[in-house]
Amino acid sequence: MTFGKDKISFLQLPTPLERLDNLSKELGVNFYLKRDDMTSIGGGGNKLRKLEYFVAEAQRQNATTLLTVGGAQTNHGRLTAAVAAKYGFKSAIVTTDDYPGETSANLLLDGFLGCSVYFKPMFKLSEAVEIVKNELESAGEKVYFIPLGGSDALGALGYYDCGIELAEQLRAIGLMRPHVFVTAGSLGTYLGLEFARLNRRLSFDLTGISVLPRHRTAAEYAEKLFGEIYKTYMGTLGFNIDVPPRASQMEINENYIFGAYNNAVHEVREAIYLMARKEGIFLDPCYTGKTFYGILDMINRGEIEKNSDVVMIHTGGFPGNYAAHHRIEMENELREFMKTDSAI
Ligand SMILES: Cc1ncc(COP(=O)(O)O)c(C=O)c1O
Repeated sequence: MTFGKDKISFLQLPTPLERLDNLSKELGVNFYLKRDDMTSIGGGGNKLRKLEYFVAEAQRQNATTLLTVGGAQTNHGRLTAAVAAKYGFKSAIVTTDDYPGETSANLLLDGFLGCSVYFKPMFKLSEAVEIVKNELESAGEKVYFIPLGGSDALGALGYYDCGIELAEQLRAIGLMRPHVFVTAGSLGTYLGLEFARLNRRLSFDLTGISVLPRHRTAAEYAEKLFGEIYKTYMGTLGFNIDVPPRASQMEINENYIFGAYNNAVHEVREAIYLMARKEGIFLDPCYTGKTFYGILDMINRGEIEKNSDVVMIHTGGFPGNYAAHHRIEMENELREFMKTDSAI
């Protein structure tokens, strides 16, 4: 496999790397945002870079349906459905969450895209996938399955490419060794970047901000997945990595999970409002809001030095703001901005 050639390039790349002047002034660091939220299909977001590889593979296998899994509000599912629509596949999402009581946010957009969402709260995820896959195959579909978050060795290549793209942009604007922060969920985004960084000796430091509580540390999961990526591509790349990194060498910060995945957190909403009010850019409460809050906190604590160069990768996810459990909190907090003559 040659990277970049075995994918279908449907994104307008590179995504912008912007210096956010107002926030830089406010925070006392040089703050840059890599706008992977501005990727052009289905509302944008990080999963599209992974899907460039998955779609090529699904076409090679003559699949007719793209099937994936996630939480009810999966951004990855929405973007899989969008790409499926563009490339003539049907799409389906399996979740073990309950139906949340309303078809809002990503679920609404899934419906726009003609994507079926299967709610299977009574099953383990792997069982639920088997049931739905069998059902689709009995109906004559050839199913191509994309794992949770698109985070396997193939999907991670999307962020291998992004790491190289980012390093070129950093070089062009003369940033010597900035600290890059990215949200870490199912880990493919972080690992693709880390794999590129180590293999190509790219000139940036990298920290993942975990948003997912786990039984073991995120770094232990990352070590395992890095090993799989390493094994898969060892023969096809000029390898500069002698030994894959151990968990202890992975920089994944787990201080900003706030106890649960996709929970409503006041401090995170404040971080979302700050980004909007200083820069007119929207974050989301599940992923990028927690990451940005983490960066703010590390600056306040002195863990990120003043005047240093900081890059956050904006991985998208804005529809999550409209999920009921976030939206209700926000509506309450933002009521003061609704200037009506009667109470609401
Ligand atoms: C908006 C957003 N940011 C970040 C992530 C995390 O990416 P990964 O699952 O590759 O760690 C996701 C994953 O769903 C996402 O939707």
